Amino acid sequence: MNTDDTPSAARDRHAELSAEIKRHRDLYYNAEAPELSDADYDALEGELRALEAQYPALKSVDSPTEQVGAEINAKFAPVAHGVPMLSLDNAFATEDVRDFEKSIRRFLRLPEDEVLAYAVEPKIDGVSCSLLYINGELKRAATRGDGRTGEDITENVRTISDIPHRLSGSGHPERIEIRGEVYFPLEAFQAMNAAAAETGSKVFANPRNAASGALRQLDATITASRPLRFFAYTWGEVSDPEFVASQSEALRKFRDWGLVVNPRSIRAEGVEALIAAYEDLQRDRSGLGYDIDGVVYKIDRLDYQRRLGFVSRSPRWAIAHKFPAEQSLTHLKGIDIQVGRIGTLTPVARLEPVNVGGVVVSNVTLHNADEIARKDVRIGDLVRVQRAGDVIPQIVGVELSARPEGTAAYEFPTLCPCPLQTPVVRETNHKGEEGVARRCTGDHACPHQKIEYLKYVAGRKVLDIEGLGEKQIQLFIEKGLISEPADIFTLEARDKMSLTPIRNWEGFGEVSARNLFAAIEDRREISLERFIAALGIRGVGETTARLLARAYGSEAAFREALMALVAEDEEVRGALSDMDQIGPSSVAALTDYFANPYNQAVYRNLVAELRVRDAEAVAATSSVSGLTVVFTGTLERLTRDEAKAQAERLGAKVAGSVSKKTDIVIAGPGAGSKLKKAAELGVAVMTEDEWLAHISGV
Ligand code: IVH
Repeated sequence: MNTDDTPSAARDRHAELSAEIKRHRDLYYNAEAPELSDADYDALEGELRALEAQYPALKSVDSPTEQVGAEINAKFAPVAHGVPMLSLDNAFATEDVRDFEKSIRRFLRLPEDEVLAYAVEPKIDGVSCSLLYINGELKRAATRGDGRTGEDITENVRTISDIPHRLSGSGHPERIEIRGEVYFPLEAFQAMNAAAAETGSKVFANPRNAASGALRQLDATITASRPLRFFAYTWGEVSDPEFVASQSEALRKFRDWGLVVNPRSIRAEGVEALIAAYEDLQRDRSGLGYDIDGVVYKIDRLDYQRRLGFVSRSPRWAIAHKFPAEQSLTHLKGIDIQVGRIGTLTPVARLEPVNVGGVVVSNVTLHNADEIARKDVRIGDLVRVQRAGDVIPQIVGVELSARPEGTAAYEFPTLCPCPLQTPVVRETNHKGEEGVARRCTGDHACPHQKIEYLKYVAGRKVLDIEGLGEKQIQLFIEKGLISEPADIFTLEARDKMSLTPIRNWEGFGEVSARNLFAAIEDRREISLERFIAALGIRGVGETTARLLARAYGSEAAFREALMALVAEDEEVRGALSDMDQIGPSSVAALTDYFANPYNQAVYRNLVAELRVRDAEAVAATSSVSGLTVVFTGTLERLTRDEAKAQAERLGAKVAGSVSKKTDIVIAGPGAGSKLKKAAELGVAVMTEDEWLAHISGV
């Protein structure tokens, strides 16, 4: 083809856009850290497509318009998709939907009076995933990757409760690759981000990135700790292509086989019904509990789908009708600093209240100092606010053209906003590397940290005292009745001597005071793991507390080990650092905590009030204690979680990948790369039955 008539400016712009789009795809798919909103990204793609329409010579096979997703990441084994995993064309306006139907009619030469039926499904904003079932057994799971080659994420996917390891019902094709979307529910996403912000760890921009991050973990136990869910909506390879005659029939079958199909999927006839369904979903969008970014219309009849086929990277028989991005402009009135339980300072933008897609937004988190600097957000600025994933508001950027004169770059405070005004430091890890979080150094002496800490201790994850919620804790702190956890347990005794007992307070009463004291008494006996969590040590949340409790067994042993740690006992430090999942930052935080005399007093006072139950004993003398084992492939007698818990009870360490340190690999059917690695390294391999026999003979 003669390309000489393509102006060089168009050629340059094409190269620039292609590079930009590839960079943003990599940020989105691989780094899970997008820099653009979806709408801004779509605009880039739109410009590229328009340019190629005008100058077709620019279109080559490696143009981003011809590709889906991003380059795949080498950390997972590659999976070649038998049927490529494609993308969908987008419609933004109602007119685009009408055009879609017109082009289908034209293509199929359908008479004007034939009413077209569609499957209408929410477009889930998650990560697409392929599940290969052979004879009803889940054999392999993969990401989309670049559409042709994905990543093997079988181990991770097996931890998702919506995904059956075995299909139920009957009549499944011998081989079928179910496709659908893995997503992160909103409530859990918000909780996880709030906790991550607290500890200064990675905050995800939206649930989609969080789902992708959780799914692409090398250690499947991390995936298992995230509440991922899955909706099935299509299929790829199938041994019996005639297993259904329509998309809606396929969804019914999927449901019968124990897969989860989105409950808002419907069958609709004619374009007007599509648009009505779109409006219904748009209206209900914020109440669904997960992100959707549009609605997918698919021609229901499979014979029509087959005739329609594909254009480059998307099917002709389906289209995604996207929701408009919900953005508004408003002024930034100020930036407040909130202090969390472990002293992390979180900047919160105070906005002139503004309606963003039906919700009034007046506060938006700015995450951390770096984020403010990156966006150069200044007080007085006109800012663009968006509800990312429709629920969590965020500041997309500043309208620089409207910046008032005389504004100054925001300076992050160097002192805690509390009355003590303690210095603020940048969070560093054990290696001295700087993190993003700024932290108040006042520990529990800082009133803000103290309130957050005590709320946490009384809360569900730790003492779980009914009737002692955030409001009551706040009140007791204000009245000077509680300032450390032990005070909760002496409240009743002190109340008896008080001239203004709680039962006479406004909002309380005889019964509620009595119930509160009873609820507190009920928690005087406590498990070791909850006790450790109650200390509120930085980086020692419920999970680490559980590991420590299992490792030490009793409060006395835990205390002794930690005092030895403070006395620089290298053996204790070594043993602690060797524990699976206890990182150097946790070791450093435990040492810091116990070295502080104030904390030692808080600890002593709390122990004096409680009966701390020993943890479930871990066998110290089983034949597998101290060994590192790896489970791979399908386990048939135990679930993965059971097998892991059992091994841990016997004192073994369960790792997610095979290395020189691995002692035994327990391989079930379908084991792949890990088994190969074990052979290479000469690691002992057992079947599940051999393993069970081995441990029962202990
Ligand atoms: S069908 C041939 N149905 O949207 C394309 N996709 O932009 C088959 N998605 O890669 C896809 N919800 O990750 C389909 N109900 C739904 C969907 C859906 C979300 C995602 C999927 C796909 C992307 C296309």
